[in-house]
Amino acid sequence: MPETLTITDNRTGKSYDIPITDGAIKATDLKQIKAGQDDGGLATYDPAFMNTAACRSRITFIDGDKGVLEYRGYPIEQLAEKSTYLETAYLVIFGELPTATQLQQWTREITFHTMLHENIKKLMEAFQYDAHPMGVFLSTVGAFSTFYPDAKKIFDEKSRKKQIHRLIAKVPTIAAYAYRHSIGRPYVYPDNDLSFTGNFLNMLFKMTELKYHPNPVLERALDVLFILHADHEQNCSTSTMRVIGSSQPDPYSAMAGAAAALYGPLHGGANEAVLRMLNEVGSVANVPAFIKRVKGGEGRLMGFGHRVYKSYDPRAKIIKQTADEVFEVTGKNPLLEIALELERIALQDEYFVSRKLYPNVDFYSGLIYQAMGFPVEMFPVLFAIPRTSGWIAQWEEMLLDPEQKIARPKQIYTGAAKRDYVSLSARK
Ligand code: ACO
Repeated sequence: MPETLTITDNRTGKSYDIPITDGAIKATDLKQIKAGQDDGGLATYDPAFMNTAACRSRITFIDGDKGVLEYRGYPIEQLAEKSTYLETAYLVIFGELPTATQLQQWTREITFHTMLHENIKKLMEAFQYDAHPMGVFLSTVGAFSTFYPDAKKIFDEKSRKKQIHRLIAKVPTIAAYAYRHSIGRPYVYPDNDLSFTGNFLNMLFKMTELKYHPNPVLERALDVLFILHADHEQNCSTSTMRVIGSSQPDPYSAMAGAAAALYGPLHGGANEAVLRMLNEVGSVANVPAFIKRVKGGEGRLMGFGHRVYKSYDPRAKIIKQTADEVFEVTGKNPLLEIALELERIALQDEYFVSRKLYPNVDFYSGLIYQAMGFPVEMFPVLFAIPRTSGWIAQWEEMLLDPEQKIARPKQIYTGAAKRDYVSLSARK
């Protein structure tokens, strides 16, 4: 028997059977419920989309209660252990792990698209010397739409693929240029002999040496962090990518908006907030007093809690292990001791346990990035590089979904009732 929800409208006494599919009712099925002839029909009210599914997606699965994260069905733990970022990006975008030949071709395409047009370089040079690298990043991604007008052919599969290659390949170069610009160092051209993350480290940190040799532990750690950040279903920036994409501009314009959404402190800036908090705590001895203040409602334990995960964020577990490997090379981040003590106390404390507050991905990622030599301004940029694969996959899925249309939420109008214009001289 098909599942239905029976609703009785006590305004009219009428009953309605609303079909339930995949655990959801269609909000438009409620439109038939009207109190009278002039009534436009019942709507749902859901600020911040707390309980509204806006799409069907085959890309990422999350079970927040059990702490499960899967890309295209593959557990994040297995991908972090066995895959590379480039292979994972292929999986996220095209839906299957590549064969050896496909991976070779994909890697080749990405490697050959890492260079930026010299005019892009000039454009980036025009930013203020102290411009925030994330501002530079998102502006440059937007500017790409003027360099690649062919990207407007969004329903041409070949053209889409070309833009995908360009985007995945060029975001590390933009990020590295943005960083070098902010510290006044000359830009470093990509080195095609190196891996995706090895080349990124080269473009960031190469000085006068003829050839840059990335540390293999740091190169792999960055790759793992990139795998963990490739996609996270319908978060704020991904929803932005879909909403902008729904009016059908080129993907660069849509991605500039997605990157802007990621720029905000509530999304891509949380790991910076963790570092600020750890500095404020200052020492292990101050941890109990800090926890007491948090429990008393004075601020939050940053890097703890998540809208979706009500158990340990699976990415946080992997990151903790990566942190140990990185610190072996870089030396311990002095803030680590404080972070470990905060975690130890919080995981035993009734306040955090009863609210299901566990460390999220941001609790340790900032410590790793700082130990690797990144300034905090680079943190959201480091997030944007791998998330590009998720944004693109979700954008393409939206474009090809016959159920999707231009995004246009409803509102409940609470403003003034109709009134006549008052001339300036008559206004009080
Ligand atoms: N420290 C202390 N108390 C907390 C925390 C925290 N980090 N997070 C939630 N709580 C408490 C709230 O005060 C509330 O308590 P109450 O029921 O007594 O009022 C309860 O737990 C539920 O919290 P909500 O704010 O309703 O949970 P929500 O799902 O809206 O918030 C969020 C999730 C924003 C992530 C929150 O846990 C938070 O602010 N965490 C710290 C910031 C952070 O780490 N953000 C990164 C998230 S991961 C990412 O974006 C990549």
